[in-house]
Amino acid sequence: MSRTPVENHADLRIGVVEFIAPDEIKIQLDIEAPDGIAANAGVPREFPRINSYVLIPNEGGHIVCQVEWINIERSPFPKRKGYQDYGLIDLPFPIRKMKVAPLGILKMTSGEKFRFQRGVHSFPSIGSPVLIPTDLQLMSIVESGSNRRVYIGNSPLTANAQVKIDPDRLFGRHLAVLGNTGSGKSCTVAGLMQWSLEATEQGENANARFIILDPNGEYTKVFGANAKVLKVGGEDEDSLEVPLWLWNSEEWRAFTQAKSGAQLPLLKRALRSMRNGELEFQSDQNLKAKKFVGIMLQSTVASENKGEPFQGFPHNKNFTERLIIWKRSLESFNLETDPLGSLMERIEVLIEGHKAEQSNGWVNYSEYTVEEIEILIEETRETYVGLGGGDSELFPKNEDLPIPFSGDVFLSYLEALAQETGNEQYLEFLIARIRTLIGDSRMDSIIGDKTEKELDKWLEKYLGKSEKTSVTIIDLSLVPSEIVHITTSVISRIVFEALQRYRKLNNKVLPSVLVMEEAHSFITRYNDNTEGNSSAICTKAFEKIAREGRKFGLGLVLSSQRPSELSPTVLSQCNSYILHRISNDRDQELVGRLLPDTFRGLLRELPSLPSQKAILLGWASELPILMKVRDLPFEQRPQSDDPDFWDVWIRKNSKGEVVERKVDWKRIANDWQENDAEREIDDELEDFDLL
Ligand SMILES: Nc1ncnc2c1ncn2[C@@H]1O[C@H](COP(=O)(O)OP(=O)(O)O)[C@@H](O)[C@H]1O
Ligand SMILES: [Mg+2]
Repeated sequence: MSRTPVENHADLRIGVVEFIAPDEIKIQLDIEAPDGIAANAGVPREFPRINSYVLIPNEGGHIVCQVEWINIERSPFPKRKGYQDYGLIDLPFPIRKMKVAPLGILKMTSGEKFRFQRGVHSFPSIGSPVLIPTDLQLMSIVESGSNRRVYIGNSPLTANAQVKIDPDRLFGRHLAVLGNTGSGKSCTVAGLMQWSLEATEQGENANARFIILDPNGEYTKVFGANAKVLKVGGEDEDSLEVPLWLWNSEEWRAFTQAKSGAQLPLLKRALRSMRNGELEFQSDQNLKAKKFVGIMLQSTVASENKGEPFQGFPHNKNFTERLIIWKRSLESFNLETDPLGSLMERIEVLIEGHKAEQSNGWVNYSEYTVEEIEILIEETRETYVGLGGGDSELFPKNEDLPIPFSGDVFLSYLEALAQETGNEQYLEFLIARIRTLIGDSRMDSIIGDKTEKELDKWLEKYLGKSEKTSVTIIDLSLVPSEIVHITTSVISRIVFEALQRYRKLNNKVLPSVLVMEEAHSFITRYNDNTEGNSSAICTKAFEKIAREGRKFGLGLVLSSQRPSELSPTVLSQCNSYILHRISNDRDQELVGRLLPDTFRGLLRELPSLPSQKAILLGWASELPILMKVRDLPFEQRPQSDDPDFWDVWIRKNSKGEVVERKVDWKRIANDWQENDAEREIDDELEDFDLL
């Protein structure tokens, strides 16, 4: 039996609007409105319930509101239509009221379907009826939005509708997954990746890229054989390598704590020399001469290209003047062995050959020929090479480029540089620190000379190829704490810069996702005091990705239990959030500030969310949805191994298997003492500040 819309409304009515402001509507519930369970809207459903939805019809459709609070007020018994003078005396009567926040409009489309739209343009007025939504309407609220491709959970408040997301939205503008330890963040993150890959239905052949920075080593088993796990001390294919030649000057600076006075310029100079393949340190005089001849060469080539020296006055006069100055400068270098002689002769010949004294005593210079200039260029080039210059130095590479060099060579170069420039005492600390770094056996497999020496191979290992899905899990748990921030920073920066170059060369982006677990330890707030140290460098690398990653197809996924310790820049660049249980005051407050007022009500539910339940909001979701994240089978869950006290105590586990924990302090002592010598130098140096 079909019913008229009016009859329908009458059935679903639960109250009436009694107060209205743009961000807040108060509703008085009817006395007959359900109390506990509502059976009038299809499947029985809890009503009234915090954060559930109610509808207020208006001309454009139904305004969807979310319940923020419900209370009871003692008021005179309400006057109802047709019941005048209901009682003799007005006894106080408990009346239920609700405050709701308007979220958007639910419009009827063809075929009894509904479509939800964010934002409310016209408001109801006092006295408007309030309705409980039908199942179909509820589903339509949750299932709004386009490209709902990946199924990630169900919404218990809305008839268990499936929560599906558009991966372009979820990963495209950065996602933060926040919540206490044990609230289900890691499972959610692991699930998002697995369900997304599953939804592509491409098997292993999806052209997808995920890089997971995993400080606890929890993800190693999550993807089974479908992921590459890189860890310290792994076999070739699986070893985590972040060679020191990948570090840029900022990262070197942070690690060595070079001060901007004398140390930093020298450090940069040494790095520049390494990038330019200058393996031996050269004396200053030689270096200057080389640089000068290099400039001469560039300038003559540029002049030739412009045709300058072949034009008439004043150009050839200027060119001659240039030659005269060059000759004088070359003479001033005064080098012991004389690689400059023949060049000076050539210049002399050129100048004299073109000099023409006129009758009035003025000196004129005739035009130069192409051949003459080419000979000059040729000889300048020879001299330049003779001084140890290479083509690369004509266009010197800057100190930040990832061009391989050896740690040992770098160290000896720095030592020679310190001696030559008389800066030994300034560089002592810096050199000692680099020496400890290079000599430390714990770091050798990560940064040492035996690690990868080709940039393209390194990129392929971390970012994969286009034929297959690439999931790279980077187990940071065994990286020594001195370099764990630098390592993380270098990996994320290189990934970002590689994708930047990808777009430059291809005019298209290569969509990739970078996941940072325990983000609060790597993307921390920093202040002026901590600026420039390794952890600030790491934060800055992520801040850059947060600001610009989207342009180059790099999406960030952060997971953290301490959002209040996260860099505010990074957090505010996240456009989608999945919020698990958050019980800490400061963290709640912070999360609250990130969101518009109308969602505050929903956030109050945060402290009481059971694990696996979360609120999805932001760019990836048309409106905030409380959801239960899909179940992840045991083998696919990240395993954060809590210490198994009980099993060890009673020497067996729940399956009845024997649990052994032998103690061999000798082995530990030996391992410990082997590295001790190196550690001591480092600790000593930490103690005194040289500058
Ligand atoms: N989606 C899920 N599917 C199955 N179990 C889950 C799910 N989310 C959370 N859990 C359970 O909760 C525990 C803690 O989750 P976890 O993701 O490690 O939390 P967090 O990373 O926030 O510390 C897991 O070991 C698992 O038992
Ligand atoms: Mg976790």
